[in-house]
Amino acid sequence: MTKGYQMPAGFLWGGAVAAHQVEGAWQAGGKGVSIADVMRAGAKDVTRQVDAQPTGDAVYPNHWGIDFFHTYRDDIKLFAEMGFKCFRTSIAWTRIFPNGDEALPNEEGLKFYDDLFAACQQYGIEPIVTLSHFEMPLHLVTADGGFRSRKVVAAFLKFAQVCFERYHDTVKYWMTFNEINNQAMWRDPHPLLQNSGLQLDDSENSEEAMFQAAHLELVASAKAVSLAHLIDPTLQVGAMIAMTPIYPLSAKPKDVLMAERAMRYRYYYGDVQALGTYPAWLKRYWARKGYAIEITAADATALKNGTVDYVGFSYYNSLATEYSADNPDYDYDEARSVVPNPYVPRSDWGWQIDPVGLRYGMNWMTARWHKPLFVVENGYGAYDTVVDGQIHDDYRIAYLRDHILEMEKAVVEDGIELLGYTPWSAIDIISASTGEMKKRYGLIYVDQDDQGRGSGKRLKKDSFAWYQRVIASNGEQL
Ligand code: BG6
Repeated sequence: MTKGYQMPAGFLWGGAVAAHQVEGAWQAGGKGVSIADVMRAGAKDVTRQVDAQPTGDAVYPNHWGIDFFHTYRDDIKLFAEMGFKCFRTSIAWTRIFPNGDEALPNEEGLKFYDDLFAACQQYGIEPIVTLSHFEMPLHLVTADGGFRSRKVVAAFLKFAQVCFERYHDTVKYWMTFNEINNQAMWRDPHPLLQNSGLQLDDSENSEEAMFQAAHLELVASAKAVSLAHLIDPTLQVGAMIAMTPIYPLSAKPKDVLMAERAMRYRYYYGDVQALGTYPAWLKRYWARKGYAIEITAADATALKNGTVDYVGFSYYNSLATEYSADNPDYDYDEARSVVPNPYVPRSDWGWQIDPVGLRYGMNWMTARWHKPLFVVENGYGAYDTVVDGQIHDDYRIAYLRDHILEMEKAVVEDGIELLGYTPWSAIDIISASTGEMKKRYGLIYVDQDDQGRGSGKRLKKDSFAWYQRVIASNGEQL
């Protein structure tokens, strides 16, 4: 058993999921259609097709999730048995505003989360809630073009206000948009849709459209932070950044500068959310590219006033980049600029495994943003096999152990302020990128296959008992 460090008193150990990946019941209780509901199943090398509406007999795995909508009481009981101090999930926007633009919220949807949060409270589990985790109402995409439109900013703020007013007594920790910086990968249509509800046509400049939509989303985020503080000054509202450090492939000065450019490109969203202003380099970049991004004086004030209380982040892997002579301006384009890193292994889905990158990323963010951090996702998607009702997931334990150890060094040796740790995922979920069930992340196994077949029975993996010990020893027994 590896000896780790004890975390500070009150450290929030827990686990994470997102509504669309677990709840299922996609039409129950007046729920509307979200963007996740029109994403078909994909696979490792098969992109998830996005339909205009759910159609025919196509397979949409988020329609059933793991049926958490009906099983949450028993699942939370298992989380409590593991010793969770907190549980991160999201509120499905379409349960509260089915189309996103109704005058009044859907009481049945609100009631569902009353009950869910009460079930957490019953076990002393603190809910950690993301407002928008890849689940925008589809109608806001088709009718308004997502965050191209200021109407969607208003719709999001109304949703945020209803949630803050309804749940502020039980939910103290909030995040606005999950992995808002994924849209830096603007060549891939999924992050654009999942982050800001953008669907592009061929005539558009994708990068410019992304910057404009991301701007309105950042304004929506900042205004939500201010609103939360107005409603209840005890609320803590965070950003949620996908932290994937980008290293230089070599010590060649041009590679090092290229990596610095890559980092600032992928993380400027955090600059805006934590510091309340756009970095100077980005304005020069827009000017050089001929982009006209509309930022009003009122927007700038909103950004300044609505800086986040903390930075929640996911950490799965790191990347590497190198300079190339055909890119003399060092422009970072994720689809083209990333190169394999020969110094780290990869998962079955090709994700590079790099525990040290977690410590690196935590130090990088702290030096830049000066905010407390919260690891709200970290985990290992892998094939699990059930043998005699048991799942010996030593590979997952090894991944989590190595990452927790680096995280603890960042806290104890480097002095990083860290609120908590919620591995992805508390229980098996539908994978966001592939829609698969067999890409399993959970500490609890769900007997269900990619087509949604199976008993749905929950089984404790070996990582369950291991994590239980980690929490009981406050991080010392790894
Ligand atoms: C993060 C998302 O990107 O990574 C989660 O916030 C997602 O929703 C997780 O499930 C793991 O990615 P994937 O694509 O393997 O499910």
